[in-house]
Amino acid sequence: MRQKIAAGNWKMNKNYNDAMELAQLITEAPRNEGVLTILAVPSLYLAPLQELTHSGANIDLAAQNCHHEAIGAYTGEIAVSMIESIGVQYCIVGHSERREYFGETEDMLLKKMLLLHQSGMKPIYCCGEPLAIRKEGKHKEYVLTQLQGSLLKLTEAQIKRTIVAYEPIWAIGTGETASSAQAQEMHAAIRESIAAVYGQEVADGISILYGGSVKSSNANELFMQADVDGGLVGGASLEADEFVKIINAF
Ligand code: PGA
Repeated sequence: MRQKIAAGNWKMNKNYNDAMELAQLITEAPRNEGVLTILAVPSLYLAPLQELTHSGANIDLAAQNCHHEAIGAYTGEIAVSMIESIGVQYCIVGHSERREYFGETEDMLLKKMLLLHQSGMKPIYCCGEPLAIRKEGKHKEYVLTQLQGSLLKLTEAQIKRTIVAYEPIWAIGTGETASSAQAQEMHAAIRESIAAVYGQEVADGISILYGGSVKSSNANELFMQADVDGGLVGGASLEADEFVKIINAF
């Protein structure tokens, strides 16, 4: 049985008080115990939220990004070792917004994942194609090339500790969700490419999340697909009721 996961990606939203309140509401709500809930919050809020989430609430935190070098003169950046030192277990790597606006390459993403694994943390590795590629029907090739540049260079022990998120760029923040069939097709293709390198058993153990306009109204159908093991949720994770409904949609 693969781990079911509902991860909220708050991106650059919420000031301090609103963020604490949102986390508190999610913590207190009755949630499906079998689902691992992860909140990817702005780094500034990781330390203050550690206590809240470690109160037996079955919630974990993720950083939204980390730097690809271990430490040093990188003003404004945050090192994996710093995130690890406050007890955070997860970090998103390669979100399409980071790739697009900050020029992150597969080489950088591989470095980040290696640092995360060395420190005992777990990456949530994102991949996904832009609209033009989807229209050309080349989405599988495009995503496979992404995976080959970083994810599929991990060792077996490392990939087993990695969460994958498929997020078609055309569905992020647009209100347009991939159909459950489109999601399933890509998730199966991703799992197949993992199986081709590490074997079926390893591939079958890896949680692959779908991201891109997940809402309480479409979550159940998406999560019912054989290879969809949960969601990476942006906009709909900013409202406690809505996000809790998504957690409970499995
Ligand atoms: P969205 O964002 O749910 O707002 O589309 C998803 C993401 O970017 O992780």
